[in-house]
Amino acid sequence: MRHQVVLQENKSLREYNTFAVPATARYFIEINERDELQGLVDPQQYVPRPFLVLGGGSNVLFTRDFEGTVLKINIKGISSSAEQDGEVLVEAGAGVVWNDLVRFCVEQGYAGIENLSLIPGSVGAAPIQNIGAYGVELKDVFDSLEAFDILTGEFRKFTREECEFAYRDSVFKNRYSGRFVVVSVRLRLSTVFRPNSSYGAIEVELRKRGIQRPGIRDISEVVSAIRVSKLPDPSTIGNAGSFFKNPVLSDEEFNRLRKKFPDVVNFPMSDGRVKVAAGWLIEQCGWKGKKIGHTGTWMNQALVLVNHGGATGKEIYALSQDIIASVHDKFGVILEREVHIV
Ligand code: FAD
Ligand code: EPU
Repeated sequence: MRHQVVLQENKSLREYNTFAVPATARYFIEINERDELQGLVDPQQYVPRPFLVLGGGSNVLFTRDFEGTVLKINIKGISSSAEQDGEVLVEAGAGVVWNDLVRFCVEQGYAGIENLSLIPGSVGAAPIQNIGAYGVELKDVFDSLEAFDILTGEFRKFTREECEFAYRDSVFKNRYSGRFVVVSVRLRLSTVFRPNSSYGAIEVELRKRGIQRPGIRDISEVVSAIRVSKLPDPSTIGNAGSFFKNPVLSDEEFNRLRKKFPDVVNFPMSDGRVKVAAGWLIEQCGWKGKKIGHTGTWMNQALVLVNHGGATGKEIYALSQDIIASVHDKFGVILEREVHIV
């Protein structure tokens, strides 16, 4: 069967990125069904390359127009297996809104992703940077995914090991950058709920609410409330969440830093390295809540760069360069961007 793609031209991307910066895609295709992807490699149809895969646009910054073809992934559907030994497999299309999947699982009593409540974006993007929040990362519940290979035109499965997940990282940001379109993701969830309130803020919020034995819904609600209090809502203030990763230092590097700055906020990792709070570093450099032209950092979270209205991607990118330089000058630490810069 022939899968005819419908190419739109000169499409504005302003509504397709949560920074709400202006940019245009030279070509734009909406992918609603898995098999439509085959149209992209059909020699009888001309689909200009390069491709840029887009979900909810909540982790990209456009600093220019895109001259190739944007693939907007809308593939829907959520299904789950029968329970076996206290586990269920839940599979969702890449175009499902991540938080809709979380809500579905919370309602069904499938535990494992309630700490990831309210993260914006799509299911298909979740493995790309191994989304994480409040003590849980996608990799903790990930079973496998199906992806379309733009190079060979074939579908293939990736196991958890093959995804090479790490903190805000996967094989799809490295060796396979730009090569695969995630089509669906399968999670292994538990029907037995054990709350994960290891992240300090969750305990504090549970105590405030007088909840001693939280259920799955409590954790989801508490995480959502913490997020709303700290992070700007992209529907009113353009942003892409944390703009930088928290830098991970070796034991030696960290001790050198702590000698000079004893208050440095940090999270020891299981492999002996130490994650340092980038928000703290940025705040200490005087950037928190500062407005620079149309852009700035968020008043409750210095790690989040924002568009106060009318900012361009170039302006936001320039601010990120200034922040990197000042954190480096003061602390000798190099911040790495988390957001995908186009
Ligand atoms: P997009 O921005 O559309 O794309 C992101 C990257 O994934 C791009 O490189 C894109 O090419 C690629 N991609 C997207 N879909 C596919 C696909 N189907 N196949 C292959 N590649 C694909 N992230 C966290 O980890 N934790 C948080 O707590 C968190 N909080 C946030 C809070 C706010 C307010 C905002 C705005 C963002 C936050 N983020 C967080 C970042 C963002 O929500 C996640 O990175 C999310 O997974 C991005 O999903 P998306 O669909 O919007 O991806
Ligand atoms: N802090 C400051 N000043 C700030 C911000 C933070 O001093 O302006 C310090 C505070 O001590 C705070 C600590 O840093 O207690 C940690 O802050 P927070 O709990 O907000 O978490 P984060 O490390 O800044 C990370 C993720 C978030 C995720 C939260 C919760 C990264 C890059 N960011 O932020 O993910 O939601 O933890 O788990 O790892 C995202 O990736 O877009 C994102 C929002």
